[in-house]
Amino acid sequence: MPDVKFFILFCASLFLNLFFFSYHFLSTPLPPPRRPRPPGGGLTWTRRAAEEAEAVAAVSCSGHGRAYIDGVSARGHPVCECNTCYAGADCSLLKSNCAADADSGDPLFLEPYWMRHSAKSAVVVSGWHRMSYLTNNGFISVELERHIRALHRAVGNAVEEDKFIVFGSGCTQLINALVYALSPDNATTPASVVATAPYYPLYKAQTNLFDGREYEWKGITSKWINSSVVSTKNFIEFVTSPNNPDGLLHKSVLGVKSVIYDHAYYWPHFSAIPAPADEDVMLFSGSKTSGHASSRFGWALIKDEKVYDKVVQYMKVNTMGVSRDTQLRVLKLIKVILGEMGGGGDIFEFGYKALKNRWRKLNEIVSWSNRFSLQQIDPQYCTYFSKMRDPSPAYAWVKCEFEEDVDCAKVLKEAGIISRRGTLFEASSRYTRLSLIKTEDDFDLLLRKMVAVVSENGVSSI
Ligand SMILES: Cc1ncc(COP(=O)(O)O)c(C=O)c1O
Repeated sequence: MPDVKFFILFCASLFLNLFFFSYHFLSTPLPPPRRPRPPGGGLTWTRRAAEEAEAVAAVSCSGHGRAYIDGVSARGHPVCECNTCYAGADCSLLKSNCAADADSGDPLFLEPYWMRHSAKSAVVVSGWHRMSYLTNNGFISVELERHIRALHRAVGNAVEEDKFIVFGSGCTQLINALVYALSPDNATTPASVVATAPYYPLYKAQTNLFDGREYEWKGITSKWINSSVVSTKNFIEFVTSPNNPDGLLHKSVLGVKSVIYDHAYYWPHFSAIPAPADEDVMLFSGSKTSGHASSRFGWALIKDEKVYDKVVQYMKVNTMGVSRDTQLRVLKLIKVILGEMGGGGDIFEFGYKALKNRWRKLNEIVSWSNRFSLQQIDPQYCTYFSKMRDPSPAYAWVKCEFEEDVDCAKVLKEAGIISRRGTLFEASSRYTRLSLIKTEDDFDLLLRKMVAVVSENGVSSI
């Protein structure tokens, strides 16, 4: 009798194994059949586009400009778009008396990196590529999400495993989406939105502009710390770390539940990475990661499912997701970043060296006089580079030290330097911001003008 039982069990096990084995292999889709390649195995519909792209890239703009495929053309030839202060058909003429523009946070310091990686980062897009509003996965490219998560793991700047991810048209679009999502649904009083000065001005500008019934701008956090009058229960605090404009790493000061951590600059080219960030709501920007501000791509990592659902709903109503063309381009860029990481083509190493040098040069010039000072950033251990690293902030936060120089932006303007005035960051007008992440031409001109203004007066030692 036990023999019969054993035989039945053996047959059942054999059948089940056979069933699961064949199910696994038969249910895995076969790759679709390929059309035969044309004779010679050459390119067909991509050749013309490739030739056009190569022709534009070959236009010489003397290293002070570039021609673009969608730029203006003259008699069928692409025209150079010159860097600020350069002119001429090939951008070789430096304009005299041209102001150094150190205003915007345009991350063009990474352009030379991508020029070196042209072949790897090129994308070919057919006219029929993803024309639908939707894909199999709604508005988000599964591959891009997978690569962003892999990037965070490889860099070690954020814990992504237990978080949802939402894409936005730049993290600019996600700023208000998150304020909306963190605001209470049916509260009698709106949520108070605050940030620590000096803060990125768009938090206030957006909160005021969209003017929702659920939230309102309530100024700087210092007004509410230890405030015995008002409870901070219903607050949403923006924490920018590293901070724009001063590059310092910050934590929440109010200790409230709803904090939006803006980590746009928490990448090894701008800052030390002491540990992976692991906050409930974190913002990242493609503009500052790869330098492609034009693609308008950013993402949020969100822990709480209800908050995530509200952000997704906001994105649906607002733009129905982020352009799939953008997602395709960003996917390619992140693949290159990941592929080059740790080797000679590491974008973070490249960016870090460029900004560290810029910061060192500017500090040296500023130290010639006691007229200006810059924010103090100490060397710090970075887990990405596994060593102590020097500061390499995106911006210089300049203070005018002379008593009479109450409007620092004006002082620099008179010296031919366009900066972003401190009052825009809700700081004193004694401060102004200089962008260090623009082109090499912008930075060179900035240094020349700074040399002139510090040499002018107040020289303590040269
Ligand atoms: C702190 C901070 N957050 C967000 C942004 C917006 O970035 P994005 O280009 O992704 O919209 C910027 C842009 O300069 C920024 O400095």
